[in-house]
Amino acid sequence: MKPKKYIIKKGKIYWPSKEMKKIAWVSNEKIYEIASRNPVKFWEEKAKEGIKWEELWKKTYEEKLPYFEWFKDGKLNFCVNCLDRHLDKGSKTALIWIPEPTKEKPIKLNYAELYDKVNRFANVLKKQGIKKGDVVAIYLPILPETLIAMLACTRIGAIHSVVFSAFSADALKARIQDGKAKLLITADGYYRRGKEENLLEKAIKATEKTTVKKIIVVSRLRKKKRGGKFLDFQKEIEKAYSYCKPEIMNSEDIMFILYTSGTTGKPKGIVHDTGGYAVQAYWTTKWNFNLHEDDIMWCTADIGWITGHTYAFYGPLLNGSTTLIYEGAPDFPNPGRWWKIIDENKVTVFYTAPTAIRMFMKVGDKWLKKYKLNSLRILGTVGEPIDEDTWMWYFKKIGKGRCPIIDTWWQTETGGTSINVLPGIGPFIPTVAGKSFPGTKHIVVDEKGKKVKEGKGGFLVQVPPFAPGMLHGVYNNHKKYVETYWRYWTKFKKRYYNTSDGAYVKNGLIRVTGRTDDVMKVAGHRLATAELENAINDSKYVNESAVVPIPDKIKGQVPVAFVVLERGEPSINLEKELKKHVDKKIGPTARPSKIYFVNDLPKTRSGKIMRRILKNLLNNEEPKGLMTLVNPEAVERIKEVLKENST
Ligand code: WTA
Repeated sequence: MKPKKYIIKKGKIYWPSKEMKKIAWVSNEKIYEIASRNPVKFWEEKAKEGIKWEELWKKTYEEKLPYFEWFKDGKLNFCVNCLDRHLDKGSKTALIWIPEPTKEKPIKLNYAELYDKVNRFANVLKKQGIKKGDVVAIYLPILPETLIAMLACTRIGAIHSVVFSAFSADALKARIQDGKAKLLITADGYYRRGKEENLLEKAIKATEKTTVKKIIVVSRLRKKKRGGKFLDFQKEIEKAYSYCKPEIMNSEDIMFILYTSGTTGKPKGIVHDTGGYAVQAYWTTKWNFNLHEDDIMWCTADIGWITGHTYAFYGPLLNGSTTLIYEGAPDFPNPGRWWKIIDENKVTVFYTAPTAIRMFMKVGDKWLKKYKLNSLRILGTVGEPIDEDTWMWYFKKIGKGRCPIIDTWWQTETGGTSINVLPGIGPFIPTVAGKSFPGTKHIVVDEKGKKVKEGKGGFLVQVPPFAPGMLHGVYNNHKKYVETYWRYWTKFKKRYYNTSDGAYVKNGLIRVTGRTDDVMKVAGHRLATAELENAINDSKYVNESAVVPIPDKIKGQVPVAFVVLERGEPSINLEKELKKHVDKKIGPTARPSKIYFVNDLPKTRSGKIMRRILKNLLNNEEPKGLMTLVNPEAVERIKEVLKENST
């Protein structure tokens, strides 16, 4: 049968076809207007329709800025919403996991099997003394056990704090300490690009002298067993009782923390609640990806990021559909791996990042030849602005010109997608994210919060009522929360959530242009310049440093560092040594692509490093505003260093 075409072209613009309109949950544009007339009522209805509540709330929305609450006193259990309520079709596949080694078979778990394992593991956690409100750190790659562990936490009301498995021991330790985690769940290792990556050694180092008393270890590489404070995931599950009564939570209770980079050196623990997050995750997954029960959704994000939380795990399960996850790297054993997985598993919804698409563009179309990709219905993208070439390649080569691309703008802080086009409504325009999700509103303003005219660039802010999935604070850090997100409120009494992104509006559609603060996106990973500078400055060789992003064809951006040495001489070996130091402090994802050794950094009279000038110099642009510098001569010397390095 000929695969269906879900889009049509009118003029230069793509719109949903009749086929798409037919299957779309929403295809009438009026939804935006209806929702905006009374957004609180809209979300209230959606919350009742999409989520199973044990008790309904007393108040739908209460705003006491900088905080706001949704579904106050409503009671629910998140795990019940992901699993128990789908048990009437228990034999339906909930999870497909593709291991990296090709000789291993994929693992499929149906809803009944997943329910059984999650209940058992919830009892394991309880046996270890974990109670409602306790923080459990999870340092796992993408494995079925990762999902089991996270859902088990939500079943007993423990707060999970997932840490990206490629982060270093130091980065893990900082996150464990900030959350005062009582227990750590990790693995002995995992496979990536044919190699065994060790995880446990890093985990052990990270937990030294912390609140973590026990470590539960998934045996992925079948390394030797350990006793003492180490428990074996599989063995404990087998021993545990197969039912665990769900803890009934208040909607506003914290469900998880996820650390992300801000403008300072220390990552922030973004706090997400239970009910509001569930509502946002359910509806955005359903409407953006037009998810039906027979869909197989593959979100390629790692579980260490919010995209992994909401769209690889929770969104598809809340909707009773099937999620596919995979171990390893996109291009191993060869760059055809992803397309093979799509064909073999009949993936219908595919959600990935521009950086991955650019990597596939570079390796060439020959890797696509063998694959039909005709099961696909919807393509999604997230994490950074997508340029037109990448959009078109994705559209033509992966979607075969049949599937809409849903460009979703959102953040760790928003919990779920915030700005995108809905597949049944359109239009699908390269580089344009689209409209605020129904019941949500964003505008573009100037420095002082004055709305700017259509077509003019400015700062993207969200206006009330703030969507249910939005963050509920920074863990144990009210000050940081206020400073980062509520500038317009504290300074100008405007009720705006500050996204830190730049944007403009054209024909009522929002185009996001990128961060306006010192946060970069390296291969979709969020990284603060200050965080990297902290890591570099920590080296005994370094006196001070400045990090700036430069554009990169595949990764979008990569960090470049300027370093003033305290001891040692500039050399290739020292550059290597410092890169290694960054690996140790944060992880290889943060490694600078180049380190320039300089004598001095351009600074203002108050001592602020002028990164803008460094960026200009890297781009061969003549920097402006040298008058404000206390050391303009530094600029000339840096120019020389750049020249020397380019030859
Ligand atoms: C950027 C990822 C343009 C943006 C879900 C945001 C995007 C940051 C898009 C959040 C998009 C994400 N178009 N930019 N479709 N999606 N961004 O917290 O700068 O890892 O502020 O969340 O990614 O990154 P985070």
